Amino acid sequence: MGQLDGRVAIVTGSGRGIGKATALTYGKEGAKVVVASRTPATTEAVARQIRDAGGTAIAVACDVGHKDQIRAMVDKAVEEFGRVDILVNNAQGFGTEANPQKSTVFVAVQDTDDAELEYTFRTGALATLWAMQAVYPHMKKQGGGKIINFASAAGMTGDPGNTSYNVTKEAIRVMTRTAAREWGPDGIQINTVNPFLRTDAWESWEKARPDDVKKYADSVPMKRLGDPMKDGGPLMVFLASDANSYMTGHDFNLDGGWEIHA
Ligand SMILES: NC(=O)c1ccc[n+]([C@@H]2O[C@H](COP(=O)([O-])OP(=O)(O)OC[C@H]3O[C@@H](n4cnc5c(N)ncnc54)[C@H](OP(=O)(O)O)[C@@H]3O)[C@@H](O)[C@H]2O)c1
Repeated sequence: MGQLDGRVAIVTGSGRGIGKATALTYGKEGAKVVVASRTPATTEAVARQIRDAGGTAIAVACDVGHKDQIRAMVDKAVEEFGRVDILVNNAQGFGTEANPQKSTVFVAVQDTDDAELEYTFRTGALATLWAMQAVYPHMKKQGGGKIINFASAAGMTGDPGNTSYNVTKEAIRVMTRTAAREWGPDGIQINTVNPFLRTDAWESWEKARPDDVKKYADSVPMKRLGDPMKDGGPLMVFLASDANSYMTGHDFNLDGGWEIHA
């Protein structure tokens, strides 16, 4: 018996990193998983890994910066599996549409570029809103669902040089709280995760600002950076499962205590 037996879960940005770890863990726990991100080769590989382990999964190519692609991803989930129980809004774009990046390009507030802010916001906050709107009628009809959004400590602390990302991630946190209040009567629970886990995005951030990132990592009270599978998987399952029956509108800092270190 898995903790998510029979549930249908959509995980955006699940070709790599935290999204991939979430998709694999959900598959192991019995969920039918929609593995979605831009690169078909990685989504196919993750979906295959779930199926090879005895689970159920399909791959969907979806650039979350485009509303029509998000709608098509949700339609595909419903067409294939008949319902949507879990939505994980994990994908986040950086840079610009013409020149996407793996993580933040650090620039001061006064040098923040409109195109970069627009793309970061569109692939983060707007994409999260669009996916929530697309699953809402299904979850309402089913009598409930779980939505997990991704924000960041960067927004909460006002990380210097990170304006576009900070704006986007704080918008996601407040959107989560607003929807939690509006959709609570429908049985839909929505929470936010603020992670501190070693992934490609972390490594490219480390390359861009080695001293700052070392300082952040060294100040984690648990004295290690989290691992997406080992540390992320269990929290993601808990938030999506029946064990989480009464928590909504909250932030979960998956960060070894970093948020309280100062
Ligand atoms: N790692 C951390 O410590 C940390 C800290 C704070 C917040 N976060 C947040 O946690 C989430 C996951 O981060 P991560 O570290 O796992 O990142 P990652 O390793 O860089 O993985 C990002 C995933 O998102 C996909 N993606 C990127 N842009 C996309 C788009 N426009 N449409 C659809 N998919 C897209 C990527 O695949 P494709 O390139 O194939 O699309 C990839 O699968 C993000 O929201 C991030 O901001 C992470």
